[in-house]
Amino acid sequence: ASGCKIGPSILNSDLANLGAECLRMLDSGADYLHLDAPCSSGRHFVPNITFGHPVVESLRKQLGQDPFFDMHMMVSRPEQWVKPMAVAGANQYTFHLEATENPGALIKDIRENGMKVGLAIKPGTTVEYLAPWANQIDMALVMTVEPGFGGQKFIDDMMPKVHWLRTQFPSLDIEVDGGVGPDTVHKCAEAGANMIVSGSAIMRSEDPRSVINLLRNVCSE
Ligand code: DX5
Ligand code: ZN
Repeated sequence: ASGCKIGPSILNSDLANLGAECLRMLDSGADYLHLDAPCSSGRHFVPNITFGHPVVESLRKQLGQDPFFDMHMMVSRPEQWVKPMAVAGANQYTFHLEATENPGALIKDIRENGMKVGLAIKPGTTVEYLAPWANQIDMALVMTVEPGFGGQKFIDDMMPKVHWLRTQFPSLDIEVDGGVGPDTVHKCAEAGANMIVSGSAIMRSEDPRSVINLLRNVCSE
């Protein structure tokens, strides 16, 4: 795959210095920021919590208009945050297929609020459920770990989903998220992913620029 974009995930960053951490990533060559907003409430979503739209609004003020914010909404009832996130300055609203009963209405609402649409599936969700929506979204997110926490092990078995989507939808943006780093990115690139989220591999490095470059170079091989 050529033209991969690298989006650091800030879940494992120093959250008390989130603005500085985002700047550090942008200065290190990040193409976009993958902002994880997990929330533990409700029956579906994940046992973690970070921040909501007020923090996104502050980040937008601090970082200016340029950086692309990909909001990874690991929440129940994703409908409720569309407008607040749009107003706060999010560029893309990535929600989980498992969390809504009406993906079509949600896709429409996200667009009407001026954001791009990302649709995510957890490891246990087969890609056939995503396929009917693929022509209406900007990006499919194939989770390569169980969502919730950074630093987990990459699940190889997710690569056939990426490959299948790439075959069926050649121009769709396909993102991978979870356990992606220098050791696993080649599998993602070979399968056809073109948006690479990487959290701990970048955040824990003393030289994030070289990790970002390495990930990007593997992608364009
Ligand atoms: C996991 C999140 C990821 C996470 C990735 O639930 O969606 O974005 O921060 O972190 P790593 O790359 O450490 O798995
Ligand atoms: Zn994420």
